[in-house]
Amino acid sequence: MVRSSTLSIPESNDIPQHLAIIMDGNGRWATKRFLPRTAGHFRGVQAVRRVVEACGERGVKYLTLFAFSSENWRRPKEEVSVLMRLFMQTLDKEISKLENQGVRLHIVGDLSAFEPKLQEMIKEAQARTAGNDALHLTIAANYGGRWDILQALRKLMIAKPELAAQSDAIAESELAPYLSMAYAPEPDLFIRTGGEQRISNFLIWQLAYTELYFSDDFWPDFGAKELDAAFEWYRTRERRFGRTSAQLAK
Ligand code: FPP
Repeated sequence: MVRSSTLSIPESNDIPQHLAIIMDGNGRWATKRFLPRTAGHFRGVQAVRRVVEACGERGVKYLTLFAFSSENWRRPKEEVSVLMRLFMQTLDKEISKLENQGVRLHIVGDLSAFEPKLQEMIKEAQARTAGNDALHLTIAANYGGRWDILQALRKLMIAKPELAAQSDAIAESELAPYLSMAYAPEPDLFIRTGGEQRISNFLIWQLAYTELYFSDDFWPDFGAKELDAAFEWYRTRERRFGRTSAQLAK
């Protein structure tokens, strides 16, 4: 499904159809408790579980989580390796439950950088849940918004080489189907935990008209109550998509 907010205006709902989250603050959560940063990532997985469940119960259709950015490779080697292991263990442990609960799992990002075993697990997990449709859970791993736009452009150029000679013909609707989340509508709501107010190269194309919510909670402390507070704030937003308030009142 491809739907660009600059081409068509999505319906408004009380619950976002697509929620995208930057799960920040794991390291600080742990440091505050004199624990190694990696302890924060382990607790972060529990928060992922809580939020997936709460989203399912509230009728969110697409949930996208930024698990590992293309910039996260700059972290200490030990922390990167713990994150990779955690990712593999979580996939292994949770996949049956996700499959039975009707969750369809998508992993987006430049997966070629991951070790072959992890790539294989990702492929298998996606295949196992491919028939599900209750909740589309996307994990962005080694993902960057600029990478996504560039890879889409490369794919478009390969599919339609004639466009190189007539660049005026490259419209949004030509590029969008090649973005890695072309199966989902654009996010209605974005949440970043941990107190920072940045997009950090997340879904930069897709967030153009998304409502942005920033929470001071560290990710391991985030759960159903905090999610409901974000949804309550979301309901107060007037989503104009370029129109005036008067037009919306009609
Ligand atoms: C940001 O906190 C968090 C990450 C870079 C990793 C997020 C990973 C998880 C929650 C666990 C694995 C996820 C899945 C889906 C299996 P930070 O380390 O940047 O925190 P800080 O800003 O306090 O240092």
